[in-house]
Amino acid sequence: MRLLILGGTWFLGRFLAEQALERDHNVVTFTRGKSGSDIRGAAPHRGDRTSDRDMADLAAAGPWDVVIDTSGMTPDMVERSARALATATDRYVYVSTVNVYRGWPTEPLDDDSPIRPYTPYGPPGESGADEYGREKAGCEQAVTETFGDRATILRPGVIIGPHEYVGRIPWWLRRLAAGGMVLAPGTPDWPIQPIDVRDVAAFALDSAERQLTGSCNLAAPIGSATFGDLLEACQQATGVPAVLEWVPHTFLQAQGVREWTELPLWRPYTGTWRVDAARARAAGLTCRPLAETVADTWEWLQTGPALDHERAAELGITPEREAAVLAAWANHRAG
Ligand SMILES: NC(=O)c1ccc[n+]([C@@H]2O[C@H](COP(=O)([O-])OP(=O)(O)OC[C@H]3O[C@@H](n4cnc5c(N)ncnc54)[C@H](OP(=O)(O)O)[C@@H]3O)[C@@H](O)[C@H]2O)c1
Repeated sequence: MRLLILGGTWFLGRFLAEQALERDHNVVTFTRGKSGSDIRGAAPHRGDRTSDRDMADLAAAGPWDVVIDTSGMTPDMVERSARALATATDRYVYVSTVNVYRGWPTEPLDDDSPIRPYTPYGPPGESGADEYGREKAGCEQAVTETFGDRATILRPGVIIGPHEYVGRIPWWLRRLAAGGMVLAPGTPDWPIQPIDVRDVAAFALDSAERQLTGSCNLAAPIGSATFGDLLEACQQATGVPAVLEWVPHTFLQAQGVREWTELPLWRPYTGTWRVDAARARAAGLTCRPLAETVADTWEWLQTGPALDHERAAELGITPEREAAVLAAWANHRAG
């Protein structure tokens, strides 16, 4: 298969390129050459997807059997790529997100849940989180309008694993490695279902090879792991003894702890980790155990080059604030 990856040098794109090469596909990555690093064995093609001219040059370098788009973040960017590649590629696989669903992150979701409408400016007062989902919904629309039943839309939930530049599991690993008393959110049995980047890449390639059409969610099975499992796996990986102090959701909310970012992956809604990925599972999605992902991420942190991404700067509670919340919790329990 002649495969074009729009992206390919950071996280999901890197694993897609590596796994496609292992499957003996011919791989071209399209990036500006500004960040990340090229994958050995893949042919880099430089250009900016916001440029009509660069996209026309790329189309002229085709034809492609499949394009997998990991880097399309805005509808105009994706529309430009889809239009430019419409006759140069047979199929277009677009990596979207569960954020496109209107119910995310508070309601349980399945493959047919309602999508946020895309409008160029969005309803007044819309939050930043909604904006990402709305824009990705507009990207999906641009792909399906151009490619119709030659389009595949993949909607992953939280993706974790080695090279995770957003830094969620890396933050927890480093926090557990620092030891001491750790502010653990909610309850240890709170279900979570992040998915390993390598499992997302494998499914994306399967869907390209088998010409799957339509859309599907990608997430580990509901209830396959808990927050307690995650922190236990972090302790196992780092080998540092730490004391986990589980503090109820309502207390954290009362203390103003920022969900999702101050304590990464913590959200107090039962809907957040109820993403049903039945369609993908029926089509062969498999997910490795969370402990394996965590251990591999720790190994990568020890051996890989340090990543410095703006998203990671948003994450994590400061040691001072963590200590203050723990002290307030101790007082509350004593009183
Ligand atoms: N992380 C999660 O938990 C999560 C969850 C759900 C969905 N997703 C989705 O999964 C995808 C993750 O992708 P990734 O970042 O891992 O992909 P990636 O392909 O590994 O990295 C992004 C690539 O895009 C290139 N790029 C950025 N802007 C570009 C431009 N204007 N023109 C050409 N190339 C450009 C970057 O290289 P240069 O900078 O050198 O151009 C880089 O190679 C995203 O679509 C995201 O919305 C993520």
